[in-house]
Amino acid sequence: MRTVRGKIIWVAGPAVKADGMMGAKMYETVFVGEEKLIGEIIKLTGDVAFIQVYENTSGLRPGEPVESTGSPLSVTLGPGMLGSIYDGVQRPLDVIGKVAGGFIKRGIKAEPLQKDKKWKFIPLVKAGDEVGPGDFLGEVAETPLVVSKIMVPPDSKPGKLTYVAPEGEYTIEETIAELESRDGKRSIQLAHKWPVRRARPFQRRLDPEVPTITGQRVLDTLFPISKGGTACIPGAFGTGKTVTLHQLAKWSDTKVIFHVGCGERGNEESEVLTEFPHLKDPATGRPLMERTVLIANTSNMPVAAREASIYTGVTMAEYFRDMGYDVLLVADSTSRWAEALREISGRLEEMPAEEGYPSYLASRLAEFYERAGRVVTVGRPERIGSVTLVGAVSPPGGDFTEPVTTHTMRFIRTFWALDASLAYTRHYPAINWITSYSAYVDTVRKWWAENVALDWFEQRYQAYRLLQREAELLELVRLLGPEALPDEEKLIIDVSRMIREGFLQQNAYDEIDAYCPPLKQYKLLKLFVKFHTLAEEALKKGVPLKAIRTMPLISKLIRAKYEIPNNRLELLDDLEKRLEESFEKLVLGEKLEVEAR
Ligand SMILES: Nc1ncnc2c1ncn2[C@@H]1O[C@H](COP(=O)(O)OP(=O)(O)OP(=O)(O)O)[C@@H](O)[C@H]1O
Ligand SMILES: [Mg+2]
Repeated sequence: MRTVRGKIIWVAGPAVKADGMMGAKMYETVFVGEEKLIGEIIKLTGDVAFIQVYENTSGLRPGEPVESTGSPLSVTLGPGMLGSIYDGVQRPLDVIGKVAGGFIKRGIKAEPLQKDKKWKFIPLVKAGDEVGPGDFLGEVAETPLVVSKIMVPPDSKPGKLTYVAPEGEYTIEETIAELESRDGKRSIQLAHKWPVRRARPFQRRLDPEVPTITGQRVLDTLFPISKGGTACIPGAFGTGKTVTLHQLAKWSDTKVIFHVGCGERGNEESEVLTEFPHLKDPATGRPLMERTVLIANTSNMPVAAREASIYTGVTMAEYFRDMGYDVLLVADSTSRWAEALREISGRLEEMPAEEGYPSYLASRLAEFYERAGRVVTVGRPERIGSVTLVGAVSPPGGDFTEPVTTHTMRFIRTFWALDASLAYTRHYPAINWITSYSAYVDTVRKWWAENVALDWFEQRYQAYRLLQREAELLELVRLLGPEALPDEEKLIIDVSRMIREGFLQQNAYDEIDAYCPPLKQYKLLKLFVKFHTLAEEALKKGVPLKAIRTMPLISKLIRAKYEIPNNRLELLDDLEKRLEESFEKLVLGEKLEVEAR
């Protein structure tokens, strides 16, 4: 590839213009200035290239050289990613101090994966085998939690292996196989590169039928997200975006986790970087970092790297998907990411659209969320993998009509709306059950029926219906006062309060309550729905509402979520029996009293 050499003619923050760039390509990476800062061409007009620079540009001057590299912005995919902490263009930030205190030195070409580390490669194929793109060549036990599959890179042609390395220790640069195809001979290493703005191929997309179990009741039961699904979690300052995303990262039943921190305040981001390395994988007790990758862009790091970070993250996520794993990527927050987009666009003096964001804000968001999915991957053996994407949005003042929230809503199918008034009353997670929604309820229904309980959907429907009725009734109460309602409607308000306190509220810091397994979610929900059914019958049989309201069992029901350990779910069945007995007694007692009169 011919190298194009131009000259800087203009510098504005992270944006640089260079002329003499005829022959360079869109999205090509370039070295900018004497220090060879990394940049990417984001617009070309004639021989002038507009470049976003991933490093601090202070001191950069017109006249300095710009040199094309011939390749688009890419990530290196191979063993050694898990447990890493990267910036937005996959440079490792192994020392937290660098993040909290300042920048990576400019112009440093930090290698994304350790080059000298040897990995034990176990081949699964042999010389002479015919292979195609995506086929497994071998395995590397990357961490005790994840075995990485070494695959024929997806941009290869099918062909015959002329060499396969024997089982042994190899670095990511040593050749482990040679493939002869129509394209000629290609040597394959443990790692390969892939452009971040190009989705990795797959065979076909599957319906979103399998839920991502997060152990968070309001999410799994009311507003589920599927494996390969998309969700956003918008919320005003301090309403619980970060805590919820951390809960997802800790507890979701996905194999690999990506946490992309986009330009949150330096201290919040370093909290992630100090907290995560101490977290334990709930299933095995091993460090969670053995299946996690962190990408960190604090607000004091160059904005262009922040713009790239979500694509960098999702490309790495797709790579693990291609191995046949379920991957979850959470981004906190995409508003800070959009601000980076706005800043660069502003520097380039582009025509702004709503609130100063560029007109391509929506398409860039789409390019991110479109990469979610549960798919049949390319390559043999046939396998299924998924990338689930969840983005926090921090709308200024909690106004969900602003552009980042509204555009995001077009591309996601689960909406977890955080509500400042719920957070204020310490109802956590502060997810508003009236304004939130999930388009996956119907698609994951079969999974719940087959794996948890046949009548899951019915129970969910009943509980959700009660909550909706409560909202309508509270509106009436506001106008007419509580006494205006008949007893059956007062009962709805009572039971809804029990559902809110005993089911929807979930304490992320309580040892038992932090994670609620699906069966426990179902059994708890059923208790409240049953309470409503029995209470309604009792009312009809003449039991006064007061007698129902003062049943001692109610507080037991509300506390069951954290009083009943997750491995003693039969206690919930006992509770259900006691519930039935209490109502029998109540109705019977009432009858006796009436007869005595
Ligand atoms: N599920 C939960 N259980 C217990 N406490 C919670 C929960 N969710 C949120 N909180 C409380 O709310 C506080 C603020 O949450 P968090 O930092 O996640 O908000 P945020 O929306 O990320 O804020 P910011 O806009 O500043 O980023 C937490 O420190 C915690 O005390
Ligand atoms: Mg936060």
